[in-house]
Amino acid sequence: MSERFAIAPERLPEPGGRRLFLRGERGLLLFNVAGEFYAIDDGCPHNGASLFSGQLQGRLLQCPAHGLRFDLANGCAAGIKGFGVRRHAIEWDGTTCIVVITDSAPEEISA
Ligand code: FES
Repeated sequence: MSERFAIAPERLPEPGGRRLFLRGERGLLLFNVAGEFYAIDDGCPHNGASLFSGQLQGRLLQCPAHGLRFDLANGCAAGIKGFGVRRHAIEWDGTTCIVVITDSAPEEISA
């Protein structure tokens, strides 16, 4: 079952920025890469590290713990077939960003 999480325009990250939202005990990261928005779980599938402080190179996000890189567009780990971070679809209702997630709605915990 999916859930739609609406994010008002004033809460969206600026280009090159990111925001972290809390979903229960897990985080949801929203990235703005040159005006394109991407949403992923804030948990590296390798060993669970937070990806919030990971370095971005284009759409590739590098895990700060051990360096795996994930393509924000599909969640896939670079060079590792069938392994990746959980990503969420994004839709728009005017200027409101809608993240389509499969469990409880997040609440914002940082800017
Ligand atoms: S926890 Fe992310 S690469 Fe190891």
